[in-house]
Amino acid sequence: VSLKDYNTFGIDVKAQNFISVTNVAELEKVLQKIYAEELFILGGGSNMLLTRDIEKTVLHIDIKGKRVVEDLEDYIIVEAAAGENWHEFVLWTLSNNWGGLENLSLIPGNVGTSPIQNIGAYGVELKDSFISCEAINIQTLEKVTFINADCEFGYRNSIFKSKVKGKYIITSVRFKLSTHAHNIRTNYGDINASLEEAEVVKPTIQDISKAVIKIRQQKLPNPAELGNSGSFFKNPVIPTEDLKSLKLEYPEIPSYEVSEHEYKIPAGWLIDKAGLKGYRIGDAGVHKNQALVLVNYGNASGEDILTLAQEVQHKVFDKFRVKLEPEVNIF
Ligand code: EPU
Repeated sequence: VSLKDYNTFGIDVKAQNFISVTNVAELEKVLQKIYAEELFILGGGSNMLLTRDIEKTVLHIDIKGKRVVEDLEDYIIVEAAAGENWHEFVLWTLSNNWGGLENLSLIPGNVGTSPIQNIGAYGVELKDSFISCEAINIQTLEKVTFINADCEFGYRNSIFKSKVKGKYIITSVRFKLSTHAHNIRTNYGDINASLEEAEVVKPTIQDISKAVIKIRQQKLPNPAELGNSGSFFKNPVIPTEDLKSLKLEYPEIPSYEVSEHEYKIPAGWLIDKAGLKGYRIGDAGVHKNQALVLVNYGNASGEDILTLAQEVQHKVFDKFRVKLEPEVNIF
């Protein structure tokens, strides 16, 4: 079975076997029959780079469903199954005028994998409205609820990428959303500019979503048209002293304080300044509008993208002495 249509990079590798499950009971049956080591779990396929054929059974989590769990006065608790498309879920919340996820519009991928890397954009992270998720232990089949505090959320990080990596399959996620007193977040530069351009004075959550969609469409390639996995690298966090010395040479370097001693700098800026924006090796390329995104122009293999990524890492390190870490999971 080709996995080309199941990963947003559009990499054509093969899976030995492929099983899709559409409910938790089916999932449990598969887990009873097949050993955890023999399985490769696949969600939306939007944050992975496949570099070779998978000699395992690919288990596609395609469980659908969304519902209101509890309707409280000022907010609402909603639940979505793991296989729901993230953006469609966000649009559903907005059509009901529930606030909280608008800044996270148009992020590729599914609901079930959104907590793993604590998806974030335009000043908001998933953890800001995440209540809990249901997960199933791949080995013991035990069902566990992880509440927000259990998840150890950080920048593009959670317990699902560290301590319990590969141990659970998330089956559904709950969010707490506002029903009328919406907390509009426009502090991320690009959003304000976009709202001004559209002459929106008192933005609604729907306006924010529209602005985010517009910005993303301008900067980020649509995976349906050009294979990619969004940001390929994390934005590096560096000690304040390192930023100071970088600033001597590059006073214009953008930076965001993350703690007393650390600053985050945009990997896209570093890659761009290293002269790599639009750089291409065969069908593997650095996107022309956002250097943080690597793209597949058609027939790049996973190895081709990886080779390009390593070259980007080396060139950025040579120029700035900053190490770039992939954000995408590489298999
Ligand atoms: N920049 C450049 N050249 C580039 C790209 C960026 O100079 O080619 C500069 C920009 O001018 C800006 C700064 O870098 O000053 C930051 O750029 P941008 O606002 O586009 O955001 P980012 O830091 O590159 C992060 C996330 C994105 C998210 C945006 C908006 C990470 C790894 N990436 O990108 O997330 O959409 O902020 O919040 O944190 C993703 O994870 O897949 C993703 C797209």
